[in-house]
Amino acid sequence: VTSLGSAPSRRSVMIAGAGLMLAAAMPRRARAASAGTVERRLVAAPARLPLVGRGHPDTDVWSYDGSVPGPEVRLRQGERLKVTVENRLPQPTTIHWHGVRVPNAMDGVPYLTQKAIEPGTTFTYEFDLLDAGTFWYHPHHQSSEQVGRGLSGPLIVEERDPVAVDRDVVWMLGDWRLNRDASISDDFGNLHDVMHAGRLGNTVTVNGRIRESFALRAGERLRLRLVNAANARIFGLVFEGHDPQIIALDGQPVDPHAPDGNRVVLGPAQRIDLILDATAKPGARFRVLDTFYEGLEYRLLDLVYGSEPPLRDRPLDAPMRLRDNPLAEPDLAAAERHEVAFSGGMMGSMSGAIVDGERLSMAAMMRRGLGWTLNGVAAGEHSSKALFTIGRGRSCVLALANDTAWHHPIHLHGHNFRVISRDGRPTRRREWLDTLLMAPRERAEVAFVADNPGDWMIHCHVLEHQAGGMSGVIRVA
Ligand code: C2O
Ligand code: CU
Repeated sequence: VTSLGSAPSRRSVMIAGAGLMLAAAMPRRARAASAGTVERRLVAAPARLPLVGRGHPDTDVWSYDGSVPGPEVRLRQGERLKVTVENRLPQPTTIHWHGVRVPNAMDGVPYLTQKAIEPGTTFTYEFDLLDAGTFWYHPHHQSSEQVGRGLSGPLIVEERDPVAVDRDVVWMLGDWRLNRDASISDDFGNLHDVMHAGRLGNTVTVNGRIRESFALRAGERLRLRLVNAANARIFGLVFEGHDPQIIALDGQPVDPHAPDGNRVVLGPAQRIDLILDATAKPGARFRVLDTFYEGLEYRLLDLVYGSEPPLRDRPLDAPMRLRDNPLAEPDLAAAERHEVAFSGGMMGSMSGAIVDGERLSMAAMMRRGLGWTLNGVAAGEHSSKALFTIGRGRSCVLALANDTAWHHPIHLHGHNFRVISRDGRPTRRREWLDTLLMAPRERAEVAFVADNPGDWMIHCHVLEHQAGGMSGVIRVA
């Protein structure tokens, strides 16, 4: 029924409701008056929603508070977030606050930092928001299925002095594998997905719906926060007729710059903040295309200008540079150096690996649903043995080696890292990330100060690769 690895069907995009999409922002919740703590409750539960839209059945999803994506959690840098999560799903869950430097016990990794939240029970997360930026939350238990059924939401931390824009909008990009009746295909964790590019879907949504269009007013300036919440799909967005500027990567400010080749590339779990000036005339219409996979280009939606007179005659003349977050600068000369090599997958040369302390052939691994390794070890979801320990407070360089034929978005928990080299060449922007999209055979060096004690996951954010063993733990002690 579904075509693996295909572009989302043009047909399903065309049948989407034609209504203009107004600001995607969801209403802000009241802030707690005292002590800068924002209290929220999130209920993870099944829901039935019109993902595909008019003329199609609704889809049974798993949701936070009945919506997909989950409610926008928005607060200000320096505030404290206290979230009670109630699990009404048919299986245990947790929440991971992706990209947020939380204390280890709040990191949401079952078997490592907490017990999974059993159905019918709650767990309360509480932590300070040290950094401003665009983050997101999602389960970290049976992630392929739980994220693939719709569980994720945006977490926005506003700067104390944000850049001036007319609108601040989040686009959560989702990728679903739907059957013809719009139900979610339940072939989670199949070995084909594990061994190839992961669970690529056939239906791409923006904020939980197939979108025909996004309304713009001539002259306005948008801050567009892109979040890739897909299990496996990499996006390469082209904004025809526009000149978006990247101002933050994974929530961390960078010098404003145009994307390479005018294409905004976003691996799973990555976020990119753009400044988008609506420089065309009232009534104009432009396409936003996704051109990442060659030969599988499709139109994500149209930017549709209203007929109102322009808000201003020329683009807003205001600075776009955000103030840096308080991240400790790694001392490269004094840094510990560790290597992390990734291998496995189809078209790889891996013959076997260590699984739970035992050497297994590739065939035996695959019978257990495993096909990837970090430093020769394939981790099951419950493995917690650290690859290595970094001294607390030490600077560290990780030399990452992608010895596979596939792309991998590599995510480190608890820390942000500077990307200092790629394939041996120093990076121009030395960007801070929490998830690095590595191309096949690519090498990269990243550096950070190990200032957050605990056991932290490092894993591929193609959730089927993670489940297939591409996951490990780094101890900071
Ligand atoms: Cu976004 Cu370990 O996860
Ligand atoms: Cu991967």
